[in-house]
Amino acid sequence: MTTRTRILTGITTTGTPHLGNYAGAIRPAILASQDANADSFYFLADYHALIKCDDPQRIQRSRMEIAATWLAGGLDVNRVTFYRQSDIPEIPELTWLLTCVAAKGLLNRAHAYKASVDKNVEAGEDPDAGITMGLYSYPVLMAADILMFNAHKVPVGRDQIQHVEMARDIGQRFNHLFGKGKEFFTMPEALIEESVATLPGLDGRKMSKSYDNTIPLFTSAKDMKDAISRIVTDSRAPGESKDPSKSHLFTLYQAFASKNEAEDMRLKLLGGLGWGDAKKLLFILLDDQLGEARERYHQLMSRPSDMEDLLLIGAKKARAVAAPFLAELREAVGLRSFVNQSQVVKTVKKKTSKIARFVSFKDNDGFKFRFLAEDGEELLISRAFKDGKDVGMVTKAVMLENHVDLKTDVHQFLLYVNGEIVAKSPKYPSPYECKVALEKAKQSINRLKFTDSLN
Ligand code: TRP
Repeated sequence: MTTRTRILTGITTTGTPHLGNYAGAIRPAILASQDANADSFYFLADYHALIKCDDPQRIQRSRMEIAATWLAGGLDVNRVTFYRQSDIPEIPELTWLLTCVAAKGLLNRAHAYKASVDKNVEAGEDPDAGITMGLYSYPVLMAADILMFNAHKVPVGRDQIQHVEMARDIGQRFNHLFGKGKEFFTMPEALIEESVATLPGLDGRKMSKSYDNTIPLFTSAKDMKDAISRIVTDSRAPGESKDPSKSHLFTLYQAFASKNEAEDMRLKLLGGLGWGDAKKLLFILLDDQLGEARERYHQLMSRPSDMEDLLLIGAKKARAVAAPFLAELREAVGLRSFVNQSQVVKTVKKKTSKIARFVSFKDNDGFKFRFLAEDGEELLISRAFKDGKDVGMVTKAVMLENHVDLKTDVHQFLLYVNGEIVAKSPKYPSPYECKVALEKAKQSINRLKFTDSLN
């Protein structure tokens, strides 16, 4: 199995993406998802949106606009898992499991909550005036988003670093209480892209909706042009030399230009290019880079059912990971079926010592192996090998992750070693069940490796 880095991030669906969001978050995330080593999970954080916004229409519009922006910007849904948080019922369920281990004192320290309290106190109000439990528990929901998929890296803005740290804290506590030596949750790390542009807005301050200084992204060419015409500049006349390093118009230009184009612009400004002409050139550059994506955006917005389909497929992919994992977590905290209870009780000892395993055997065709999960389910059966030693080599390769890969082929998944298919799963009734089984296989193998490393 190639262990790819799982990158996960959520976008709160309360607004319309602007140029600053595009350059600062969307464009880098789409680029990062194209890396062969990245396993990206990007989602619309629409449960989080409910914390800030009680206008259903705005929520709905923003969800569609943000989905269309990411897709129009070139996000490849076959490579990444792109979904709406609210399509994954396992998220609120995990949120509750985590709420029950999260320390209240930890959440008291959350910046967003504290800022609201401070504001109330300053205004002489009750400290908790207008503060919902949603705002208070915001970091626990976010921890569930992250821990549900065992994300390694979480690209976020600086204001979110604390939340990622809280996710680690809460995840660690759960591991400690219920893991019995096993780490259920991977510890996530916040990823702050230092090189990524924070674009200045029309007035030179950071481009942000709250400063009302944004340049629209995909609404229309005219809107973009109008906004550009409002960029604040100094009062130097055409013909007078301008200092590019002091011009946020130039900073904006640079964020979208190639090195040569930027250098060209720099020289023109030094040489006395008028601000009006500079704005025209900025518009041409942006329109050139974003015009096609704008077309795609409007196509997507006019066919919401296509987006609905894509997002539902994304939700299925995400749930194929979330559902079996949550089942394990429920089991761990003691939310178990009564039906199997007697067995569970009887086999407690056996069960804790029971691990997934490779079983080799010989039949008329030659030497083969099966891979069985902890519960005995057969997940893989190999092709025949002439020599029993080859079986050992293959299973060893799997344990060491040497040129090994597990891939689905719709109703079945396949184990590749050195690019060759060496074992196959049973055929499952649906691609969904196949994904669930594949995830189980991966996790069983991981646990097996983990137990092995302890011995
Ligand atoms: N809180 C994040 C923000 O406002 C959005 C978000 C929700 C998120 N869940 C997440 C980001 C999980 C990263 C991972 O920007």
